[in-house]
Amino acid sequence: MARKISFINYKGGVGKTSLIVNTAASLARLGKRVLLCDFDTQSNASIWLLKLDRWNKLNSTGEGAVYSIFDPGRAQVRDIVIKDVLEGKTGEKLLPGLDLVATTFNLVDLENEYNGDPKRPPYLVFYEQLAAIEANYDFILFDCPPNILRASQCGIFSCNEIYVPVNPDALSLIGFTLLVEKLYKFHQLSASFRRSAMGVPAQVQGLVFNSIKAGVDIEVPKMRLQLRLNQFKTAKRAAPVAKIFETQIRDAMVVRRAVALGLPVMLVSAEAADTGAGSDNVVNDYRRLASEIITHASA
Ligand SMILES: Nc1ncnc2c1ncn2[C@@H]1O[C@H](COP(=O)(O)OP(=O)(O)O)[C@@H](O)[C@H]1O
Ligand SMILES: [Mg+2]
Repeated sequence: MARKISFINYKGGVGKTSLIVNTAASLARLGKRVLLCDFDTQSNASIWLLKLDRWNKLNSTGEGAVYSIFDPGRAQVRDIVIKDVLEGKTGEKLLPGLDLVATTFNLVDLENEYNGDPKRPPYLVFYEQLAAIEANYDFILFDCPPNILRASQCGIFSCNEIYVPVNPDALSLIGFTLLVEKLYKFHQLSASFRRSAMGVPAQVQGLVFNSIKAGVDIEVPKMRLQLRLNQFKTAKRAAPVAKIFETQIRDAMVVRRAVALGLPVMLVSAEAADTGAGSDNVVNDYRRLASEIITHASA
């Protein structure tokens, strides 16, 4: 069975998309079969991995983007998977094993204009279609916007684990707190649609510090997060094994550059080419995070 994981925080700009793209690439490099599903209508992960030209083609028609499975319902998830999404200039495959379900801006229509059958909410439609291809993957990752509206709900309902990217600031703590509250409400709301085969409703399994500047002491924000996490664990609103991950992702210019180049950091540059297991750079941070996720026992 694939492990299904959402990256989400109620705060924007914490690094959800950077983390998920680079972690997905690291998992693929480690030989895992990975599907990344983009549920953020801003489409950052899709534009990043497809580059602008290919993504523009999708966006101009909406054909092949995730919203097409909801309206007009003509496509199935299995039809819109973009296999081995990363391509070089001549169409050569740069990272086999990393597939994408892309989004375009029309996903925003799911929130208001969509009038589906109330007995079949969008997250159930998506879940059932995803189930048909789940066996093809070791990991299915969901990039979510900073809310639990309909698009996010598809990821949240389908996944069994949640990782929360945080920066060492008060807003990240607030975002985490809000997330856990809204998550609890969503699980109550969607409980009647859950079947035992779906596994446990997703809880927070881990917090990941992102964009940490060299020499900055993060002990105080870390302690505050740990206290909040402990409270949630006591209240059974976070997984018993939930923890702050050992691996922190450093702040690095190459992360920002990678977006513009349409590549995960590991494929960007000579700087990134030095990916020996012991090398001290952000590529290795992502690789260590991927390994930590692989070994982190799900509760
Ligand atoms: N480790 C990092 N080092 C430097 N910049 C980063 C890092 N992680 C993210 N960023 C930058 O921070 C901004 C927000 O990141 P993003 O992943 O889009 O956040 P979110 O998806 O949570 O909104 C982007 O410009 C991204 O390039
Ligand atoms: Mg994002």
